[in-house]
Amino acid sequence: MRHLDRSQKSALASMAEVLYPEDAAEPILARPVRGALMEWLTEIWATKELDEVGLKPRSRALFFGPPGTGKTTLAHHLAARLGLPLVVARADQLVTKYLGETSENIAKLFKAVRDNGSPVVLFLDEFDSLASKRTSGSSGADSERNHTTNTLLQRLEAHDGTVIAATNLADDLDQAIWRRFEIQIEIALPGHGERKLILKRYLAPYTLSPDAISLLAEALDGASPALMRQWCEGIKRNLIIGPKAGWNMERDAVIERQLASVAPHPDLQRPRLWDRGIRDPAIRNLAWPPERGKAGG
Ligand SMILES: Nc1ncnc2c1ncn2[C@@H]1O[C@H](COP(=O)(O)OP(=O)(O)OP(=O)(O)O)[C@@H](O)[C@H]1O
Ligand SMILES: [Mg+2]
Repeated sequence: MRHLDRSQKSALASMAEVLYPEDAAEPILARPVRGALMEWLTEIWATKELDEVGLKPRSRALFFGPPGTGKTTLAHHLAARLGLPLVVARADQLVTKYLGETSENIAKLFKAVRDNGSPVVLFLDEFDSLASKRTSGSSGADSERNHTTNTLLQRLEAHDGTVIAATNLADDLDQAIWRRFEIQIEIALPGHGERKLILKRYLAPYTLSPDAISLLAEALDGASPALMRQWCEGIKRNLIIGPKAGWNMERDAVIERQLASVAPHPDLQRPRLWDRGIRDPAIRNLAWPPERGKAGG
């Protein structure tokens, strides 16, 4: 099978960003979510056997949940498990203010995926901006939105390959579109167990005691994985750069600098750590500086 490789100039590359299997990372997700995904993958791998009994694997999945929880990362990881590139089409690249043009762009995108010559997984990001609820209003904007949603319905129905859509605003989606997805998976904020794993992953090669990790995971209740990653990487950057730059490297100084430079979006829940800062028990009990293990472990 010929794949869309990095050197290939395809019609697709001009409309969307292409992410390759070798660059994918596995997100840390709650067990039921991992189970649902494994079930889907197993089904796609069994395409031939299913075909023999007149069935097709499900090909359309919708991921919904707050920003920074790993929807894009997960789509990339899934495509990689299938050995396929992920074609990321963002709504803002498709939606225009010119009458009918958004629908044309959607049609062109699906056609480019179909004509590509080798299979890809299509990822429709910011999907709520494309597939908002249809309305009965008669303004130009209403009919344009209804036209776009109808085009999307038809293209999804007619499309043969795997399609994943993602949104932070599931409530805004048109119900008929929602039903067109055979799998709907909520990617929620991580629980305590996942937060511990996320902290360990993004602090590595620095290590903390299990108690310290657990206390930090409590103080970060409500944080998205993306925010946790930024915070952990900020601490690591400080540990490396700070001494060279002559910064104060005492624990409270480093933590305060990090909490001031990274913050949750104002619309999202504010984890305890940002309110209590260095007075938080997770920080007061934190052995400093963190031990540094072997790279990669
Ligand atoms: N569940 C997770 N496990 C590990 N890392 C994660 C997870 N979720 C997000 N990240 C990290 O956070 C960053 C942002 O994640 P990603 O873009 O996948 O989130 P998203 O849900 O698609 O966000 P948005 O809704 O803003 O598009 C990535 O660098 C990723 O590595
Ligand atoms: Mg995303």
